[in-house]
Amino acid sequence: MVWTDRTQRRPRAQGLPWCRVLARDRGDSLALTARRDNDMIRAMAGDFARTMAEGYSFDGPTLLLGAPLRDGAVAAPTAVRVPLAMMNRHGLIAGATGTGKTRTLQLLTDQLSAAGVPVFLADLKGDLSGLAAPGVADAKVLERAKSVGVEFVPAVSPVEFLSLTGSSGIPLRATVSSFGPLLLARALQLNETQKSVLSLVFKYCDDQGLLLLDLPDLKAVLQYLGGDGKEALREYGGISPATVGVLLRKMIELEQQGGDAFFGEPSFDVDDLLRTGPDGRGVVSALELSDIQDRPDLFSTFMMWLLASLYRELPEVGDLPKPKLVFFFDEAHLLFEGADKEFLSQVQQTVRLIRSKGVGIFFVTQTPKDVPADVLAQLGNRVQHALRAFTPDDEEKLRATADTFPRSEFYDVAKTIQSLGIGEALVTILTPRGVPSPVAATLLAPPASLMGPIPPAEIAKRVAASPLRKEYAQAVDRESAREVLQKRVEEGAGAAAPARGGPTPGGRGRAPAEPSATQTLAKALNSPVARTVGRELVRGLFGVLGLSTTTRRRRY
Ligand SMILES: Nc1ncnc2c1ncn2[C@@H]1O[C@H](COP(=O)(O)OP(=O)(O)OP(=O)(O)O)[C@@H](O)[C@H]1O
Ligand SMILES: [Mg+2]
Repeated sequence: MVWTDRTQRRPRAQGLPWCRVLARDRGDSLALTARRDNDMIRAMAGDFARTMAEGYSFDGPTLLLGAPLRDGAVAAPTAVRVPLAMMNRHGLIAGATGTGKTRTLQLLTDQLSAAGVPVFLADLKGDLSGLAAPGVADAKVLERAKSVGVEFVPAVSPVEFLSLTGSSGIPLRATVSSFGPLLLARALQLNETQKSVLSLVFKYCDDQGLLLLDLPDLKAVLQYLGGDGKEALREYGGISPATVGVLLRKMIELEQQGGDAFFGEPSFDVDDLLRTGPDGRGVVSALELSDIQDRPDLFSTFMMWLLASLYRELPEVGDLPKPKLVFFFDEAHLLFEGADKEFLSQVQQTVRLIRSKGVGIFFVTQTPKDVPADVLAQLGNRVQHALRAFTPDDEEKLRATADTFPRSEFYDVAKTIQSLGIGEALVTILTPRGVPSPVAATLLAPPASLMGPIPPAEIAKRVAASPLRKEYAQAVDRESAREVLQKRVEEGAGAAAPARGGPTPGGRGRAPAEPSATQTLAKALNSPVARTVGRELVRGLFGVLGLSTTTRRRRY
């Protein structure tokens, strides 16, 4: 639902009639209608109401957050809102467990979709599938809507369920090569030595034109380098056979945990996150993760892969009237915990540069301290739910959180954060002028869609009917490193491995007498299914996080 009422720009001091906030969307979305009368305005007249009116009155479409609170009661008639155009200035939704972060994300998602903006989100607990079903107007929800001053109208969004295991959604796969050593090392929690060896292995594969599509490919390369291909290692000084052995074990471990389902082809095309339905609503892509909750390192790196892929694939567009995609990064602390400098700087760079590609990122986590300062500084929209301070450590986090908010003449920020109830938050957003809005304790509106999961059978039905099914449901195993190396070994080509600068995507072939490994590779390169080969080879060294490699142009 998008709020476009210009009457709110009128200063409250003039006693102009508030205000009919009209829902301008199609009737099926969160159509909320607010009515306040002049008596209320007069009763609320004062600095606070004026500050809210001035701080949260915008031209153009906005997303509703809720009603401003003072001393626990709604204290101004102006709704707290975010301009749609500023959703690419990123944001943070933080708060202790059970305080309402997920419902805030849902509230924003409902409205983004209604405004025609596609959304990507990770559904860690399986409690966001309700986006696809209408909300229930129970007494609590109606009471909340009434307090916020809006009418509750249930609505749904078109939801595409994605899954890393393929069990509860369209399988989302990435090739090992596009993942690259930096992300893969993070997913496998490798130490520095192992990471640098993995990078060299990727380099070897690049030099040799070996495609790393799935885990068996990487395993085959490691096995080769640990056995018949030992000689080849000489050139890449620093690769110890012992470390190769460790990497191999890690790979097998990952495979045993079902990791082979995530890596391979067809690789997910991030264009598919940018869809709108026939009725113009933005498609919500929900990555269902409840089945791999125990592998946070894996799914957080996967989300980073998506983000970095978006960064690579999308053209520069500057600031649009509405974003092309809003990406909610839940459990964001997992991405940053224990990350090394190189990784953090890549994340920071991606977050900084993706804004002008029309993508807004919202991190969802417990406290702002979970996000590195450089990244935090780029998050213009802030929704801080309650934090409780039971221990000295909690208190320090609370103080640090309060310090990240602008000063407020109406609130003691630290105290307010502690006293917020469930579904309430301290909000400051970036105004179209690029300055932070006044801090507002906010009673958040209820989401229009269902708060809770829909039955698994319902999800399965939707997955079966998905337009993406045809493209992604079936894994493809085309010729890649594993097959090439197998042939190389079989034909005794191991000792005579192609020299550096061998086959490249440019396609300078070799003489017919050359080992068949290269012939088969060349065949693979020319085959119609090899549409991503060039990209894979170019990316091989750095993966999607290697921002220095060339960018593929796409259909935009
Ligand atoms: N905006 C809201 N409208 C209506 N109810 C809400 C709202 N926000 C929170 N609630 C209520 O509070 C409950 C907990 O909220 P939610 O699941 O969003 O918390 P959370 O911060 O995501 O918790 P966790 O950290 O455990 O994931 C919801 O199930 C709902 O009943
Ligand atoms: Mg939650």
